[in-house]
This record gives sequence, structure tokens and C-alpha cells, in this order.
Amino acid sequence: MRDVTLLDIFDHRITQKYLNRSGLAHAIAVAYHAFNLAREQGEDADAAAKAGLLHDMGHFTWYRNGKWDYDLYRKNDIHPIKGAERAHKLLIRLGENPVKAKTISLAILFHTDSFLPTNDIVRTPLQQIVKWADEMDEEEGGLHHYRKIEYERARQSIIKLDEKIDDAQFENKKSV
Ligand SMILES: [Fe+2]
Repeated sequence: MRDVTLLDIFDHRITQKYLNRSGLAHAIAVAYHAFNLAREQGEDADAAAKAGLLHDMGHFTWYRNGKWDYDLYRKNDIHPIKGAERAHKLLIRLGENPVKAKTISLAILFHTDSFLPTNDIVRTPLQQIVKWADEMDEEEGGLHHYRKIEYERARQSIIKLDEKIDDAQFENKKSV
């Protein structure tokens, strides 16, 4: 049994607020990619899916005159830091295991090199998975942040992914 499900996270108003800002469709796609990669590599699929879902929750909207301003964004963005902090606070509030909350939060912190002075950090397998999962869903010009999904369809995808995580954990237990 997991302490917190993806649906618990998805239904929280903080998640809704920030994921609607950075793109709900993208968040769900990255959660699925991260889950699949973790399954292939024998990593924690639950932590991967949660980090994937929340990885962009630190985004601020850098608008100037009603349009996204990429120069401002590149100069000022710290979304991985903010995202790691917001996700950690949310997960602890929901009752997540603190070790897992830290693991997820760090995977969010290192999901991109965009804010780091160099791009030579050594990632854990889980951190690498979340970075790859994000890149798998990236579209030119940041368009992945604007892809739309209906709320009810999004919620159903989350419920499906929760089932997949539970099945995966059940199988893991059987094979031990
Ligand atoms: Fe992303």
C-alpha cells in the first residue's frame, strides 16, 4: 500500500493551481513516460510517476505584454527549485513517506540542466528517468506547455496510472 496515490495529489487544489499553469497534458504525459522507464529499469515506478507529474509545478509565467517572454524566462527562471520545494511541501502535507518525498523532490530539482551553471552533474537513475521522461514529451518552442486535456480525461488517466503502479508493486512483491 502506498501512503499517497497520484489521485490524492491530482485532486489537491495546489496541484490543480500549478499544473494548470504549466500544462496538465504535459504533466500527465511525463508521469506516464517516467512510470514506463522506471518499470523497464527496475526503479521505483511510484516515485517516478509522482516526480513526473509534479516536475513543472514550480513554473512562474513570464509574461510581457500578454505573451510569454523567453528572455525573461531564461534569465530569471528557477522552476526546478520552486517545484522541488512546492512538491515536497505538498507531499508531506498529504502524508507521503518523508524519504520518498525527498527522493521525489530531488528528482524534480534535477529534471533539467537549464538553471545549473554547468551540465555535468551525476544523476541517480531515478533523477535521470525524470529528465528523460520530460525530454520525451518536449515540443519545439515550449508548445508542450500549451497542449490541452479535458479535466475529466486527465483525472481518468491518473486513475489508470494509479492502477498500473499498484499492479507493478503487486508483481514486484510476488517476485521477491
Ligand atoms: Fe517539463
